[in-house]
Amino acid sequence: MNKIIQIIDGPNLNLLGKREPEIYGSMSLKDIHNEILSYVSSNNLNMEVQFFQSNTEGEIVSCIQQTEKKCSGMIINAGALSHTSVAILDALMAVNIPKIEVHLSNIFKREEFRQHSFISKGVNGVICGFGHNSYILAVEGINKLI
Ligand code: DQA
Repeated sequence: MNKIIQIIDGPNLNLLGKREPEIYGSMSLKDIHNEILSYVSSNNLNMEVQFFQSNTEGEIVSCIQQTEKKCSGMIINAGALSHTSVAILDALMAVNIPKIEVHLSNIFKREEFRQHSFISKGVNGVICGFGHNSYILAVEGINKLI
């Protein structure tokens, strides 16, 4: 049976491709999702990947809460909410499935306020700095953790 993986993208990630391309690259979120789907199928990972993007903290909390009953793993790029949201951390801590935090950019090389993520304490591991490939590496990582 296929494993269901939930990928969650937070605020402003719907603007990928247009938004600060020198930092986040030229691929849209849709392009990244398509790349994930072809990676999964060409590597026979037997995963069903579901995507959710929201600019709203509460919607992301609700999506995280729903993953436990239907998903084997979760990948989350909470965007700027990574640096502010105790609510997302609490939701992650409440869900007992493998979870990976991703960032396109290397947050440790950027402004000081981006160098701390509240949500890292609620995940199994963090991947950042590989651009769109951060998501592909996270898919590999979650596959190992499940
Ligand atoms: C980001 C890094 C965050 O600091 C920023 O607010 C984002 C994107 C990344 O993928 O590099 O929105 O999560």
